[in-house]
Amino acid sequence: MVQEEPADLLELSDDTRTLLEQNDLRPLWEVENDMGTLIDDLEPDIWKWEDIQAAIDGIERDVPIADLPPGFQRRVAVPINTTHAISNTIYVGVQTVSPGETAPSHRHAASALRFTIDGHEDMKTVVAGEEFPMKDNDLVTTPQWEWHDHINDGDETAAWLDVLDLPLFLDTLNNSHVFENHELERQPVTKTQGYWDSQYGRGRPANEGADGSIPGPFEGNKAATPPYRFGWDEMEETLRQRADNNEPDPHDGHSLAYVNPATGESPLFPTMSFRAQLLNEGATNPHFHNATEVYFVIEGEGTTHVDGEALEWDKWDIFVVPPDAPHHHEPNDEAVLLGMTDEPILRSMNFYAEAAIEE
Ligand SMILES: [Fe+2]
Ligand SMILES: [Fe+2]
Repeated sequence: MVQEEPADLLELSDDTRTLLEQNDLRPLWEVENDMGTLIDDLEPDIWKWEDIQAAIDGIERDVPIADLPPGFQRRVAVPINTTHAISNTIYVGVQTVSPGETAPSHRHAASALRFTIDGHEDMKTVVAGEEFPMKDNDLVTTPQWEWHDHINDGDETAAWLDVLDLPLFLDTLNNSHVFENHELERQPVTKTQGYWDSQYGRGRPANEGADGSIPGPFEGNKAATPPYRFGWDEMEETLRQRADNNEPDPHDGHSLAYVNPATGESPLFPTMSFRAQLLNEGATNPHFHNATEVYFVIEGEGTTHVDGEALEWDKWDIFVVPPDAPHHHEPNDEAVLLGMTDEPILRSMNFYAEAAIEE
């Protein structure tokens, strides 16, 4: 099934409209109109959290999720790099769900994950029958063609980063948005919390699946990355252990990749790879590569120099490093970034190239 016609009937207040336009943000239901076009000359750019916050607050005031038509039931502010997305391969958006709201269940061919910005135990992404809590900095995968809905049973609005390979799919490959709504607003919860961790986490089922290849009985699309929650507490502990015992990468600092739980190896998705990066040993060395990088600032402040431009960031900002642009990071003190890259696409065809820049 292909995505229905976009919604253009939703009214935003003038204040919200101004906030969005001034800060290169647009609501998701509008940019879906523009998907299918390539961004020429991708520029380095940054979106400051205070601007994003004001815009998502405005959208939240103006538009209850229940008012959004089927097919567009996600309340998201999308950073746009001139037209409709942050890059030609990776999409990011900032989604909010208010207390008592549900972003209804749907599924699609695009790979997706959530990285929680401001969450809590009672904010849940339900995927493949399990409720995953969305606590701060948790990363939750939603496999391709697997039902997922977002439910806020708490008393505070939650916000998170959605990351999808949608522009690759829609713009670069000029495909259509293969998408379906669930017949129910909320998919049935059929598994206890921790079920998917029991299949793909630190312990694994002792016996292989019937086909002998997959450790858990994931009944969905077997080629897809399984449903999984990477809790930040464990991820950060591992990152700091690594920093205590290993030299940093000259370009990325102490860098820990999120692995595909089915294989134990990076990349997390065939199209996108993700890493937690601890920058605590001064500026990194400049390099360039033909992969696009998108960054989210988990904590700290600093500057990333891209092609002669200084992107000054602090907590929860989002910025993009275009392909082939020389860049290096300069934290003010200690900083932690979520690094996102389309490098796996290029590597899969042996097109990937990178080089250090001698100073
Ligand atoms: Fe989705
Ligand atoms: Fe880089």
